[in-house]
Amino acid sequence: MEELVKVKEQIKKFVIECNDEKSLELLDLLATGKMLRSKLVLKIAGVTEESIKLCAIIEMIHAASLLHDDVIDEADTRRGKPSINALFDNKTSIMFGDVLYSKAFTELSQMDREVAYCVSNAVTLLSIGEMLDVNLTENFNTSYDKYIDMIYKKTASLIEASAKSAAILANLDKEKYALYGKNLGIAFQMVDDILDITQDSQTLGKPAMLDFVEGKVTIPYLLLHERIEDKQKLESLYKKELSSEESSWIKEQMISTKALEDSINQAKELGLEAIEAVKAEKNESLVQIMSAMINREF
Ligand code: FPP
Ligand code: MG
Repeated sequence: MEELVKVKEQIKKFVIECNDEKSLELLDLLATGKMLRSKLVLKIAGVTEESIKLCAIIEMIHAASLLHDDVIDEADTRRGKPSINALFDNKTSIMFGDVLYSKAFTELSQMDREVAYCVSNAVTLLSIGEMLDVNLTENFNTSYDKYIDMIYKKTASLIEASAKSAAILANLDKEKYALYGKNLGIAFQMVDDILDITQDSQTLGKPAMLDFVEGKVTIPYLLLHERIEDKQKLESLYKKELSSEESSWIKEQMISTKALEDSINQAKELGLEAIEAVKAEKNESLVQIMSAMINREF
């Protein structure tokens, strides 16, 4: 997508405006991701100077949140590359995150008021979502509602804000697009949580089946815990380094109880709900974005 190059150039321009060599050097070390949020904005608002700026702002906020998240999660890799905290240290990752985050907000303050409100409000939710995520790893969480609330805030809020703010820029029905973004975002995080179990570390660009070791009880584990007879065994593996027998046992149980299959179905269901929200808009790209996201390899 040609337009994504424009977004990357805009990000670079914004960082150049910060007048700091170190920040530019660090920017070059960041691996670019799928740019899902930018794709959404551009498909909804079209390619204009404003929409490219909005994309750059959102990608910088997202990158900042990941720079902080990698410190919180003590992650060595990000998107298949060494993380900034692994290459340098935690301080560098946090400080560079702060540079990206504050420059993004400086630029956001120059945008349409409603867009600025929408995006900045999502960042508060994002931060609360991260806190909830960390708090939920203290004990084996068995509440589905807590899980959904957390992934809505941690992941879907910024995706919702991307779709909504793009609709505001393009004078479209913002509530419909917000609902599309919210459902897409929740489904997106569910898919991520499923891929942690179904994919190998090479494809993931980080160790596989790490969530449970880190204390994250994601949807397949929630459903498994509900359905499995030997709950004690599952609970005994929580937050432990898993041997290959133990990982295989968990996967087998997820298959036989259909916990995995039903998790995939729930993500798909949310994807369909997302599409339903914008059905009347007749924007085929929104269906494509959703199905590309859901049908990432399980
Ligand atoms: C990745 O989740 C983390 C997020 C989507 C949000 C992180 C948010 C913050 C650190 C707070 C906001 C901070 C700023 C500067 C805006 P994950 O750990 O489940 O996924 P991963 O496997 O990709 O790390
Ligand atoms: Mg993380």
